[in-house]
Amino acid sequence: MSNIVLENLTKQYGDAAAIEGVSFSAPAGSFTVLLGPSGCGKSTTLRMIAGLDTPTSGRILIGDRDVTHLPPSQRRISMVFQSYALFPHLTVAENILFGLKVRKEPAADFPRRLDRVAKLLGLTALLDRKPSQLSGGQQQRVALGRAVISEAPVCLMDEPLSNLDAQLRHEMRREIRALQQSLGITMVYVTHDQTEAMSMADQVVLLRQGRIEQRDTPDGLYARPATEFAARFIGTPPMNLIDLAGENGGLGIAGLHGITIASAPEQAKRLGVRPEHIRVSDQGYPAVVESVEYFGADSIVVCRIGSCSGIAVRAPGHLRADAGDMLTVAWRPEDQHFFAADAAAISVPGRSGAESLSPESLLS
Ligand SMILES: Nc1ncnc2c1ncn2[C@@H]1O[C@H](COP(=O)(O)OP(=O)(O)O)[C@@H](O)[C@H]1O
Ligand SMILES: [Mg+2]
Repeated sequence: MSNIVLENLTKQYGDAAAIEGVSFSAPAGSFTVLLGPSGCGKSTTLRMIAGLDTPTSGRILIGDRDVTHLPPSQRRISMVFQSYALFPHLTVAENILFGLKVRKEPAADFPRRLDRVAKLLGLTALLDRKPSQLSGGQQQRVALGRAVISEAPVCLMDEPLSNLDAQLRHEMRREIRALQQSLGITMVYVTHDQTEAMSMADQVVLLRQGRIEQRDTPDGLYARPATEFAARFIGTPPMNLIDLAGENGGLGIAGLHGITIASAPEQAKRLGVRPEHIRVSDQGYPAVVESVEYFGADSIVVCRIGSCSGIAVRAPGHLRADAGDMLTVAWRPEDQHFFAADAAAISVPGRSGAESLSPESLLS
């Protein structure tokens, strides 16, 4: 098994840094997701772990071996990319075995290895077909098979599911996670999709403009976002950020008079509350409905509180209300997040703050 360590990795393209000072470790057998918006440096980071690109500075260790200047073939990794490009003229079996043949691995082992991978991925009945005779999901499985058959202890995936429709993506997400766990692979997986990150990862490395914004477990990222950016990146709809203003010697919601927020730290500039933590209630803050969207299991009610509009509330079932209607909404003090002028979270006594994430804790 192979752990991965990135030490202060920087990649410059001309004057611009694609990534800067990126450090994290991924314990052997763990699933790490590199998450962030387009252009934040996810693929650059992954390509350097793979050896397809050389860092401008910093080190990469795989299995405690410094691989920074080794070619991909000597890193004991497998890779799956968004454009998985199967060879159209080769059968499924030939596609899966292609890499082994190129690397001149012992042919006597091929039937055993192919059989195992085909069973793992449910491809046994399809081995003689050509890619054009497969569905999108089956093609994606062949691409996974190509990676899995290498039996490399580390697997790197760059947005492998983005070409699939939503239903299939959901299925493949579960399959990849199950495969990674059953084979004990150390996985680094790139996506811009926060639901993929939340549902698959042991740890999430959230990148923003080439730097790590927060590295945490999915639970930690959701419950204790370190910044407003992290708070807004996780969750649909994202966390509401509500402007605060001085009120009766304390702090209240901007434009709303007569209610102070007892637990607000004095340096707080914004209050964060997730839509699912706001409930329609008899007591609380007066809110004016701006719009209602109904989704079956729940409704998203967008409203204005004080001078802050666009506040999303996730209400169970079909909440029947019209624009302009008045509601009263409330939330628990423990669901409040406070942010300072620099957009960093202010740790609140009584709630565990941004404690450092130890690699060992990820796999317990
Ligand atoms: N070969 C390259 N030459 C110049 N700039 C690049 C190159 N590759 C990536 N970049 C830049 O580096 C930044 C990060 O890119 P990338 O890692 O591909 O982002 P992501 O995968 O998160 O969308 C972007 O600003 C991109 O334009
Ligand atoms: Mg990319």
